[in-house]
Amino acid sequence: MNDKMQKGLFEWEPKKEKAKGGVERVIERERTPSAETTATASACSEPAVAGTPEAVKDLIATSDASVEQLAAAVRFHNARYNDGKPVISDALYDALIEKLREVDPGNAVLDELTTPAVQTPLHGKKVTHDVAMLSLEKLKKGEEFKSIALWLNGFRGDFIGSPKIDGLACSLVYDENGSLVVASTRGDGHVGENITENVYYIDDIPKKIAMGNVEVRGEVYMPLTAFRAYDGEKISARNLAVGGLKQKDARQTSKYGLSFFAYEALGQSFETDTEKFEKLRLLGFHTIETRRFAWNERRSVDDVLNEVRAYCDEMANARSKWDFDADGLVFKVDDNKMQQSMGTTAHHPKCAIAYKFACDSAKTTLRDVLWQVAKGGTLTPVAVFDAVELAGANVQRATLSNVEQVESFPVCPSDLADSPELPATADVNWSLAHLSIGDTLCVSRRGDVIPHVEYIVSFAPSAQKVGIPTQCTSCGAPLLRDGKFLRCTDPDNCPTTGQALIENYVKVTGMMGLGEKIIASLYDENLITLPSDLYRLTPEQIASAVQNGDDSIDASARLPQKLYQSIQSHRNLSLATFLEALSIPALGKVYSSLLAQSHLSIDEILQLDAQKITDILKGRELTANKIHLALQKKRSLIQALLEFVTIDDEVSVPQNEGGPLAGMSFLFTGTLKSMKRDEAQKRVEALGATVASGVSKNLSVLVSTTNKTSKWTKAEKLNEQGAKIALWTEEEFLEKLKELS
Ligand code: IVH
Repeated sequence: MNDKMQKGLFEWEPKKEKAKGGVERVIERERTPSAETTATASACSEPAVAGTPEAVKDLIATSDASVEQLAAAVRFHNARYNDGKPVISDALYDALIEKLREVDPGNAVLDELTTPAVQTPLHGKKVTHDVAMLSLEKLKKGEEFKSIALWLNGFRGDFIGSPKIDGLACSLVYDENGSLVVASTRGDGHVGENITENVYYIDDIPKKIAMGNVEVRGEVYMPLTAFRAYDGEKISARNLAVGGLKQKDARQTSKYGLSFFAYEALGQSFETDTEKFEKLRLLGFHTIETRRFAWNERRSVDDVLNEVRAYCDEMANARSKWDFDADGLVFKVDDNKMQQSMGTTAHHPKCAIAYKFACDSAKTTLRDVLWQVAKGGTLTPVAVFDAVELAGANVQRATLSNVEQVESFPVCPSDLADSPELPATADVNWSLAHLSIGDTLCVSRRGDVIPHVEYIVSFAPSAQKVGIPTQCTSCGAPLLRDGKFLRCTDPDNCPTTGQALIENYVKVTGMMGLGEKIIASLYDENLITLPSDLYRLTPEQIASAVQNGDDSIDASARLPQKLYQSIQSHRNLSLATFLEALSIPALGKVYSSLLAQSHLSIDEILQLDAQKITDILKGRELTANKIHLALQKKRSLIQALLEFVTIDDEVSVPQNEGGPLAGMSFLFTGTLKSMKRDEAQKRVEALGATVASGVSKNLSVLVSTTNKTSKWTKAEKLNEQGAKIALWTEEEFLEKLKELS
């Protein structure tokens, strides 16, 4: 199984646009969304959806945005968020929802907004929540304390504040014996997805507790220490937490080092949340740190509000030291009876509210803009500025979206720029200017991870505009302006792109251990110029490149051999992976999968004309044309790869073919008493068997600690229909192991 991270779920086609000539220092933003800024999001059907931050900003800014456009954009961005692959910031998303609510308060889409659906080994198994899992009402930006005052006026009683963890809500059901029996995601609040097996690999979720018949709820998250140490593509800790729970092979979940904070216990009664949290801690759960606020007749709203304000400031300052991402704070009535009597709206409990932190940002000076050549020959501008510390890290560079951004960057109005607290993000109505070296910028780390230039705070006195290159910074070939993008006209011969091509191949196929430095070293040695050359490398060649490379490369004696094996173990690829690994800009994960789903061979795909590709891509003509052209250009690379690679949609892991269990597949369910599940899996693998991800008619053996599991029932049903799944108890399994070992 390929365990690389989910990526590129969303591809979009920039519409053709004219290059802006003679850009003025300050450009007034157009009032209506133009073809230039409205991206077509491929995952949605026509009409075009505002798929990019720019397009969404324009959509919000325009006075005559249609309800349909807004609803489609909200639905689209909610889906991207749920995929763990948000395209726009939370702030922009909230603004988009506000706009739709303003234009059409009763719009059905507002009721559809859900949180992630997670695929699990029990994929398709829905779990109905006995008590709906609601979300929290977010306070309107700029009016937070007004809203908190209103909330305070709605009840009189103590309340608690706690950090709002940026993870995924999760329900854990414990049976009468206190055994964890079902874990599920929130889903749409009423029906979630089963993640029981994944949750077994989250260490701080107790699997057995000293309390029966209770449903514990809380947030699964990725600790920031685990996030920083994670070896793979990382966008945000939340995104990785989604990825961790999405693993169909539940064992993979353990690689993510996820954690859990409990905040609710249903089915048992408590006087207050304070008491509930104490009990949860006694049961072995981690709970989030809370602060209790006294709210009674002896105090005024202003008095309490001041205390809340101070707490918000204190937490915002303490945030950088926490080992979890928190996007704000939750305030909740402490008394459980009062919580009940306050009731709920369709989506939110009235007893609790969510306050959002302002984004951590800083002022700095722009020193340079570098132009990096990326996959496919697109030049990406990178802003270089004086180092600033943000969310616990030193930041000196931030990638800008495209050349158009360099030419038209938002400028903060001077009255706001002079105020002590800078706005977190640019406003869509601000004017735009061409970036100049020496400009003062406001820089943030989006989601506390990705460095991001928000806007220009003030102009440099000299106003030396950032130059736009006319030649490729890597190979010197002329550049072509393609809408918002600058592209190298000779990408196949461009050395950086050649290297980028290999890097992308390595990343998409999941060859472990081959980092950028090693690839650069092999490339500089002329040992590889095309991805297919990777398969020709001998362990000796790899060893010499590793030794010549950077000092920081671990040139241990075993490394070259490990790298060699890593490359050679990727000669069986699925068609979708093979296509995505070709580095065709228009052919990302989504379209590669669509093409692969056509059940055509690679040769047949190469024979397709642009029209047939358009049909497969559900009418995306522009993209289909690009893919068709690029595939023709890549014929020789494809042929070179096919000398080594077999395309196989049933890609399997290497097996111990001579083992006594060769040809058999095993599945384990329930908590084994004698060993951990992953050890049991390793034992059968060592004997030649494979481990299945779910019950199917092809399964050979299901080892279950009880006959009450849903897997057992499913296997019995399949056996009634003619399958031959052996159902073993743990004891039977241990006996067999003894026999065979
Ligand atoms: S209290 C409605 N406390 O935020 C349930 N929730 O939109 C409120 N969350 O999905 C439960 N940190 O999972 C509470 N300290 C905290 C929280 C928290 C994160 C999540 C919760 C829910 C979402 C609300």
